[in-house]
Order: sequence, then C-alpha cells, then structure tokens
Amino acid sequence: MIKSLLFYWMLGAVLIPANSDLISVCIEDDQDLRVDCLVEPKPSRINSYEFSWSSGNKEAVINTNVSGAASEALFRDKSYVEELDPHGYRLTLTGFTETLPHNTTYMCKISGNSATITIERDLLLTCSAVSVFLKTSCIWVMSLLIFLQQMHC
Ligand SMILES: *[C@@H]1O[C@H](CO)[C@@H](O)[C@H](O)[C@H]1NC(C)=O
Ligand SMILES: *[C@@H]1O[C@H](CO)[C@@H](O)[C@H](O)[C@H]1NC(C)=O
Repeated sequence: MIKSLLFYWMLGAVLIPANSDLISVCIEDDQDLRVDCLVEPKPSRINSYEFSWSSGNKEAVINTNVSGAASEALFRDKSYVEELDPHGYRLTLTGFTETLPHNTTYMCKISGNSATITIERDLLLTCSAVSVFLKTSCIWVMSLLIFLQQMHC
C-alpha cells in the first residue's frame, strides 16, 4: 500500500512539472515559428489572447484579439492564431525565424493570465524534435518507475 502510494507520488512529481509548461516555442518543418500557449482561461473573463515578444527593451505585440489592443503592422499578415484543445492558442509566425535576435522572450496572455519564456535563438528546437523528446523522456521515466516499483514489491 505504502509502496504504491510512493509510486504514484513519484509519478505525479515527475509528470506535473512537464505539464506545467504553459508556453513553448519551436520551429516547424517549413521554418515557421510556432508558439503554443496553454494558459487556462478564467471562466469569468472574456476569452481573448495576446502573443508578444521582447528582446532587450523592445517589446512588440505579434497577434491579439484583446479588444482595443493592436498588433504591430509588421506581423499582421505574417501570423495567425488557432485554438488548441482543450484550451489555449497556437501562434504561427512566418518569415522571422532567420532574423531572430540572440535572446528572445516570448509572452502570451489568455484572458489576462500570462506566461513567458526566454529562449536563445540557437537553442530553438524543431517542433518534431520536441514531440520526440517528450515521448522518449516520458517512456524513460515510466520504465524507471515501473522498474523501481518491481524492485520494492
Ligand atoms: C478571441 O478569439 C477567440 C477564438 O477565436 C474567441 O473565442 C474570443 O471571443 C475572441 N475574443 C475577443 C475579445 O474577440
Ligand atoms: C540571454 O539570456 C540569458 C538568460 O536570461 C542570459 O544569461 C544571457 O546573458 C543573455 N544573452 C544575451 C546576449 O543577451
């Protein structure tokens, strides 16, 4: 009993941090930049999104539908946003991957809740590599946990 509790506790401890990445950035096969924002909307607030980035002290809104807010003209026909299941939004930005500054901070806001991440240009992964990485690290962790549990029983 205690051992299986410990097992689930460890499983939780390992899986929860991986799931709390509210914003992630990667490069698609066609070189578009993808930003996934998994911030949960507040049920009581108007549903809206805003994607922006900053580097140094320059900040720019890439795409938003917050009423009254506007994105920079530069990005207007280069970006689009789609809804993710069960909640969240995905931004796709065309044509800026080659000219990213060294360090970029990506931000997203959903119904006023925000998430940020700072990534160096050279450390951006391709989107297919990200999902392979997540899958393999998950399989590793599961095998390790199952191994540990069997050792204790
Ligand atoms: C923003 O877009 C989402 C999804 O299309 C929509 O549900 C929401 O009502 C929009 N918000 C505003 C303020 O237009
Ligand atoms: C990029 O960001 C990292 C972490 O925030 C910082 O340590 C590093 O000095 C930054 N590099 C440049 C060139 O701004």
